[in-house]
Amino acid sequence: MCGIVGYIGHRTALPLLLNGLKRLEYRGYDSAGIALPHGEGLYIVKHAGTVAQLESMLNGLDLPATVGIGHTRWATHGEPIDRNAHPHTDASGRLAIVHNGIIENYATLKAKLQEDGYAFRSDTDTEVLAVFIGALYEQYGDIELAVRTALSEVQGTFGLVVLSADHPDILIAARRGSPIVIGVGNGEYIVASDATAIVEYTRSVFYLTDDELAILTRSGCQTKTIDDIPTSAELLELEFDLERIEKGGYPHFMLKEIHEQPETFRDACRGRLLAHEGNIKLGGLRSVEQTLRRANRLILTGCGTSWHAALVGEYWIEELARLPVEVEYASEFRYRNPVLSPDDVVVAISQSGETADTLAAVREAQMRGATVLGIVNVVGSSIARETHAGVYIHAGPEIGVASTKAFTSQLAILMLLALYLGRMRHLSATQAQEIAAEMLRLPDKIQTILSRGDFIQDIARSYAHATNFLYLGRGVNFPIALEGALKMKEISYIHAEGYPAAEMKHGPIALIDENMPAVVIAPRDELYEKVLANIEEIRARRGKVIAIADENDPDIAAVANHVIPIPRTLPLLTPVLTVIPLQLLAYYTAIERGCNVDMPRNLAKSVTVE
Ligand code: G6P
Repeated sequence: MCGIVGYIGHRTALPLLLNGLKRLEYRGYDSAGIALPHGEGLYIVKHAGTVAQLESMLNGLDLPATVGIGHTRWATHGEPIDRNAHPHTDASGRLAIVHNGIIENYATLKAKLQEDGYAFRSDTDTEVLAVFIGALYEQYGDIELAVRTALSEVQGTFGLVVLSADHPDILIAARRGSPIVIGVGNGEYIVASDATAIVEYTRSVFYLTDDELAILTRSGCQTKTIDDIPTSAELLELEFDLERIEKGGYPHFMLKEIHEQPETFRDACRGRLLAHEGNIKLGGLRSVEQTLRRANRLILTGCGTSWHAALVGEYWIEELARLPVEVEYASEFRYRNPVLSPDDVVVAISQSGETADTLAAVREAQMRGATVLGIVNVVGSSIARETHAGVYIHAGPEIGVASTKAFTSQLAILMLLALYLGRMRHLSATQAQEIAAEMLRLPDKIQTILSRGDFIQDIARSYAHATNFLYLGRGVNFPIALEGALKMKEISYIHAEGYPAAEMKHGPIALIDENMPAVVIAPRDELYEKVLANIEEIRARRGKVIAIADENDPDIAAVANHVIPIPRTLPLLTPVLTVIPLQLLAYYTAIERGCNVDMPRNLAKSVTVE
């Protein structure tokens, strides 16, 4: 959600903090702020607005501190206004914190502190925590003890960093439920909510676990639990390069990431798809191979775009492995009373590996004795660490808030999983070889669609004024209709709905008139004729049809207003191709409407609160 950065070392902290905040701005972007020791106290600048604006507010100031903290906010408690921005301070103004997550018992704590005479300036839960830590510090005179005591009393989630003017040679970081990664340099540490703020300074990092604390000084780092039990940190090497988190000549991260898909799809399959043998090698699943052999049922869970990938996975796994699959929103799964048996396998799908609902679903499933796997992008993330086994999608950092390349990489892994489970059951090597060989051709076919960007942009221009969009698809392309609609509403703010094409008659058809564009996914598969009939029904009501169809399909060209052609592939694999024009259509529509596609309003890249 929000972005956190902290630094202690020998460099001037301010430029490093601002740079870190720019890297993290995709996580939350309604407010930004920093705190640094200055003179005898702290210097704090924060405001509702962008990091660039914060930078200009700080322009020309001489702030030589070599320690400091910073934050970009995605509002939970309190609207995005200056006084609600982080860092927040205690009553003395000498202790500041930046915080991600939610302090659930903040109202009770606040009431107690108010009884004791403490006043509050913001509407946030974070200020309550800052004041609470400050009050305990007044009492104990020991900053670490104050932080640990406060954290043992709060309910909810936190990833936080504390800075105190009384102890400018210490930074304290802590986590419960909200990620904190610490970069280890030479006599310096960079704390952040994700590694993108760290990678240009050091590749050596460690992650805090829940209820763990790091006390960072220039001469070393100590980690312990909030109950004061020493822990040991496991150093990891970051695997991605700086260029993966830069725009590389593209106007937006989203467009860059859309264009990376031939490569990222290939990367997801690399070394795993043994096309000649018709076999799949998934090293991350070796430890659960026997469990997967005898599995009775798979439950795929996730949120947002990852949930759409799960829906495609359901078709694929049922078709190829003949194994029953259920797909559940993680947010629903965690609060239901799901019926799970030891032979059920739950698969959590998450780009970030930090989505609070998905993580909670993982824990719920584990508590009920199911084997839980992860299909995750971010290496070392909470879901990756907490699942029994899993497969990384290796899409590299995804910065655009609207997920694109992570989706097609999730699809790649889900198809590999379907083939893997299928080969353990009834799928013949010949059938697997045919699909595997075609998967290897998909990157070039994605590239062909990307080369038609200008044509898609022209279509987007014609419909950018629309207030509603309908997306229709059938079978394995029904989830793609949902995903196309989600992309459109996320970044262009046009209301869009996805439906199975045949359901149109049961309601949405009432909306169709000459102002209603309908995007119809219509590759030549076994349901093609039916979809063609749906298109006729839309046209008969003067609706406008943008069809996603096979190249050189004369029948579609005769009925649709526009046809975006996609190269032919196996019907089962069409989702990997049909989603690409929908991503571009949403992108160019948003551009036409002047929207900020990388930072759409109200959204956050990684939703670490419920
Ligand atoms: C947020 C993002 C979506 C993403 C969803 C799930 O809503 O804006 O793009 O699909 O979270 O995120 P995850 O990291 O778990 O895939």
